Amino acid sequence: MPSGVPHHCTCVVGLQWGDEAKGKIVDLLTEQHDIVVRYNGGANAGHTVVWSGKKFKLSLLPTGVLRPTLQSVIGNGVVVYPERFLEEVQTLREAGISVGDNLIVSHHAHVIFPYHQEEERISEGSSHAIGTTGRGIGPCYQDKVGRRFGVRVGELLHPAHLRDRLKHILPRKNAMLQALAPQAKTFELDAVCKQYLEYGERMRPHIADTSRLLHDAVARGKRLLFEAAQGSLLDVDHGTYPYVTSSNSTAAGIWSGSGVPARHLERVVGVIKAYSTRVGNGPFPTELNDGAHGIGERIRQAGREFGTVTGRPRRCGWFDAVASRYTVALNSVDELALMLLDVLSVLDEVRICTAYELDGERLEHFPSDAFLLQRCQPVYETLPGWKHDIGGARRLADLPAGARRYVDRLSELLGRPVSIISVGPDRDQTIVC
Ligand code: IMP
Repeated sequence: MPSGVPHHCTCVVGLQWGDEAKGKIVDLLTEQHDIVVRYNGGANAGHTVVWSGKKFKLSLLPTGVLRPTLQSVIGNGVVVYPERFLEEVQTLREAGISVGDNLIVSHHAHVIFPYHQEEERISEGSSHAIGTTGRGIGPCYQDKVGRRFGVRVGELLHPAHLRDRLKHILPRKNAMLQALAPQAKTFELDAVCKQYLEYGERMRPHIADTSRLLHDAVARGKRLLFEAAQGSLLDVDHGTYPYVTSSNSTAAGIWSGSGVPARHLERVVGVIKAYSTRVGNGPFPTELNDGAHGIGERIRQAGREFGTVTGRPRRCGWFDAVASRYTVALNSVDELALMLLDVLSVLDEVRICTAYELDGERLEHFPSDAFLLQRCQPVYETLPGWKHDIGGARRLADLPAGARRYVDRLSELLGRPVSIISVGPDRDQTIVC
C-alpha cells in the first residue's frame, strides 16, 4: 500500500452517504493489520466482499472475519442483533471459513430486541419517515442513551439478572407500542427471555471485554484497522440530521465505540465513490432524477446500485465535492480511495459539483442541516468522459487521459492525494498510486 510506512492504527471511513465500497478497501488493508474493529452501527451496514471467488454479504460482522488469522472485534459502540450475528457466523462456517475466538464482541455492545424493530416499523409508517433499514438500530440506540431499557451483550450471560431486567422492560415496551399503534405486536416475558438466554449461550465464546483486549493489543504494538459503517454524511452529529443513522459513522466514533483513544490513530483512509448515492430519505443536491433512460438510471445499472441490506434502489447523482470536502475535514483524512471509477466509463461527459447556490448566494461550504441543504442548488463543472473500458487498468498510466483528469480534479478539489483507485469489484482490479 501507498506509503510503505508501518501504521499501527488505521481507519477506513466513508465520506459520502454510505455504500462507498469500504469493504474492498478494508479487505485490501487487512494484510497490513492484526485486528479489524467495527465501532458503530449494526446490521444496517451491508458490505459485499468477494473472497476466494465467493461473494459474501455481511451486515454485522467486520469484513476481517473472512481472514481467520486476523482478530475481528465488534466494539461496544455497535448494536448487536444476536440472531443476525449467529446467522452470519453460520453462513461463513458453511462456506468453510473458520470462525471461533478470532471473532470477539464487546460485553458492552447493546442488544437489539424484536420490540426495537416493531417500534421502528411503527415510526417509519408515519409521514416523517427517515427511510431506515428497519433493523431496529435507532430504537436500540435510543434505549442505550435513555439508560432505562438498554440491555448489553454481557447481560445475556446472567439468566436471573436478564429475567429481572426484561420483567421491568417488557410491560413498558408493550404499553408504549400499543399506545403508538393498537395493532402493534407485543412481547411475552418467558419467550423473549428463553430466546435471548439461548442466544447468549451460543455467543458466549465470542463475548469479552474488547476495550481491554484492544488496549493490550496497542501496548503490544499490534496494528489495528478500524472499519467504519455507513458514511460520514449519515453521522448522527455531523450528518444531514435528521436523515442520518443513530451513531457516529465518522472516525469520531472510534474512541467512544471501541475504547481506543483517538491519539493512536495514525492513518485515515477516506473512501469515495466516483459519483454519489443515497438510500432512504433526505436531501441530496446532486441527485439525478432524469427518468428511466437518464444518466441516474445508467449509473444505477452500471454500478449495481441496489441496497445490500434492503435491496432498495439507491438514489444516484454526480460527485459532490462540497459535501466530501466537509467530510475530509471532519475525519482528518490523509488519503483517498476512489471507488467504482469504471462505472462512469459509460458516460459521454462527467460532472462534479464544486459549489452550491442558496437564495442567490454562492456557497462553498456544506450546510449539514437537512432543511437548508434541501434548498441548495448544485453548481457543476463538466469534464469530458473517457468512454473506454478501464476494468483492466492496473497502473495510473493504464487509465485514459479523461479518467486521469477526473481523478486529478477530485484530488485537487478535496485537497488530498488519491492513493487507491478501484476499477472493478475484484481484489486485483485496483490501482495503487
Ligand atoms: P438506520 O441506520 O437503519 O436507522 O437508517 C438511517 C438512514 O441511514 C437511512 O437513510 C438508511 O438508508 C441509511 N443507512 C443505514 N445504513 C446504511 C448503509 O450501510 N449504507 C447506506 N445507507 C445506510
